[in-house]
Amino acid sequence: MALQDPRAGQGAGENVLPPASLTSGPLRDRFEFLRGFLRHPAQVGSVVPSSHRLEQRLVRSAAIAQARTVVELGPGTGGTTAAMLLAMPPTARLLAVELDPAFHQHLQQQLRDPRLLLELGSAEKLAEFLAARRLPAPDAIVSGIPFSTMPAQVSDRIAAIVAQVLRPGGRFVAYQVRAHVASYAAPYLGTPDKRWELVNIPPVRVFTWVKPSDPSQAVA
Ligand SMILES: C[S@@+](CC[C@H](N)C(=O)[O-])C[C@H]1O[C@@H](n2cnc3c(N)ncnc32)[C@H](O)[C@@H]1O
Repeated sequence: MALQDPRAGQGAGENVLPPASLTSGPLRDRFEFLRGFLRHPAQVGSVVPSSHRLEQRLVRSAAIAQARTVVELGPGTGGTTAAMLLAMPPTARLLAVELDPAFHQHLQQQLRDPRLLLELGSAEKLAEFLAARRLPAPDAIVSGIPFSTMPAQVSDRIAAIVAQVLRPGGRFVAYQVRAHVASYAAPYLGTPDKRWELVNIPPVRVFTWVKPSDPSQAVA
């Protein structure tokens, strides 16, 4: 499938495959996503991909249009990934880290964009993935991984790594049904801005942190 970026000429990338009408979950993505959920319900945490409304909220909350280096933790079947690629500057990079090999393969086949770098593995290895790709500290990290069902040590490790690698002034945006991510990230990044996105199945909370630019204001 080779589709044109519908926003070509508006500063978006040139080779994003899905147009906006497909980014909120074409049938094939939904089918793949459901299969992923049936394989690993706790790891995937939802039966359908994020809605178009949630994708757009994530793009705004993470200030993706101004970012040069973006990280996505848990891209799944790629709806959120495609939405970020559409919003990103042409020279920006998006590193997407996915734990499920079948989702990773699906992303490789469906999203061909020179700005997209795909890694198979756990978000716990984010620092290694960034170093291996020689990427600078990310301006934005967007996460859909289910902090509420992961072992507490894994959740804490990922929160610590996110806070460590994020550029000062950078944004961490996490969307979740439950609030566990806020308690894991608060020791490192402080109190987040909290919003609900109701137009999603299920409705989710969207937490946004801005890492202090002044190291003396850092929480940990
Ligand atoms: C709720 S789904 C979000 C999918 C997609 N971003 C969306 O919004 O439609 C969570 C995703 O996180 C992935 N995941 C879970 N734990 C992970 C981990 N430790 N590292 C990387 N990805 C993980 C799952 O495989 C799944 O693809």
